Amino acid sequence: MQQVLLMCRPGFESDLAAEIQDKASACGVFGFVRARAGDGFVVFEGHEPAAGRALLNKLSFADVVFARQWLLVIEHFPALPVDDRVGPLVQSLSGGQSLSGLPFRHVWMTFPDTNAGKGLSKLTRKLERPLARSVAAMLQPDAAWFGHVFFLSGREAWVGYTPVANGSPWPLGFPRLRQPAAAPSRSTLKLEEAWLQLIPESRRAALLKPFQKAVDLGAAPGGWTWQLVQRGMQVVAIDNGPMDQALMESGQVTHLREDAFAYKPQRPVDWLVCDMVEKPARVAQLMERWLARGWTRYAIFNLKLPMKRRWLEVQQILEKMQVVLDEAGSSYRLQAKQLYHDREEITVFAAPHSGGD
Ligand SMILES: C[S@@+](CC[C@H](N)C(=O)[O-])C[C@H]1O[C@@H](n2cnc3c(N)ncnc32)[C@H](O)[C@@H]1O
Repeated sequence: MQQVLLMCRPGFESDLAAEIQDKASACGVFGFVRARAGDGFVVFEGHEPAAGRALLNKLSFADVVFARQWLLVIEHFPALPVDDRVGPLVQSLSGGQSLSGLPFRHVWMTFPDTNAGKGLSKLTRKLERPLARSVAAMLQPDAAWFGHVFFLSGREAWVGYTPVANGSPWPLGFPRLRQPAAAPSRSTLKLEEAWLQLIPESRRAALLKPFQKAVDLGAAPGGWTWQLVQRGMQVVAIDNGPMDQALMESGQVTHLREDAFAYKPQRPVDWLVCDMVEKPARVAQLMERWLARGWTRYAIFNLKLPMKRRWLEVQQILEKMQVVLDEAGSSYRLQAKQLYHDREEITVFAAPHSGGD
């Protein structure tokens, strides 16, 4: 198993390719990446026969910024027979003639997040039952893998496995979230998704608690503040723009019309969130200040990436942040992901190494 297929937001293939190339080499797994703009996925091809497996063993999925999901490739079918798509897929999942199959729990069927890809959801629904029936005898409920078929068209598909403990828990790489009617902006889903994607479920309740104190920099009209308020937090919302009136009536929000770059909290807070449209290096510097001075315990912030070489920018910013925080004696882990609700941007979660909860 030499190849790993990684899914991403369409348009970010070259960023993911550059990132995975760097990270694979750093893990001592060498190969090259095939990527085509707009496809919504890339394929890492290792030089060694076991390179794909080695990469998934050595690299944590949570640390790959531009990947939404990945699978260890068993086989690529450029043209499945239309009268029996399921047969070859099942044979492939079982390891085929090489008998190199891995035990799996059940089979996911996915497709790229492109217009063509979305058109395939009808096909995958149609194949769900016959495929489930055909693999029923092979399923192992405690297996460490999910079987995974990634369709590119009605006939073309990649077959492989996604590790249960080292991949996204959502087949397509993101949770389906519904826009809450009372939230003041659509951006609200970015913070909700960030909590789901970046904080492990086992720690979420301990990290997000009622009566915590939070600051929202660049808060208006209040989509992120609304999420904090839903969690029962007291929020200081910093923005020169107006906040949503109903949200202000919750009594949990103090709105200050101040410059977010000049604001200092009177006392340390539990959470800092920031969603300002600003140069990413400037936002990173602001976050460094808050974290290094102990003004907040946790931070979630957005880095806008309007430039071409986004991976290079992200890498430089995160490395510099880590150095500044280490030098300040602040032991922080920075985790970055491009979320489904992130457009030309990524979201970063900073938490103390000690856990802090
Ligand atoms: C993308 S919007 C935030 C949306 C918000 N997260 C929500 O969910 O409703 C960015 C906000 O940052 C504010 N902003 C930009 N620069 C700022 C600064 N220096 N100080 C305070 N607010 C700033 C803007 O006024 C704008 O309301």
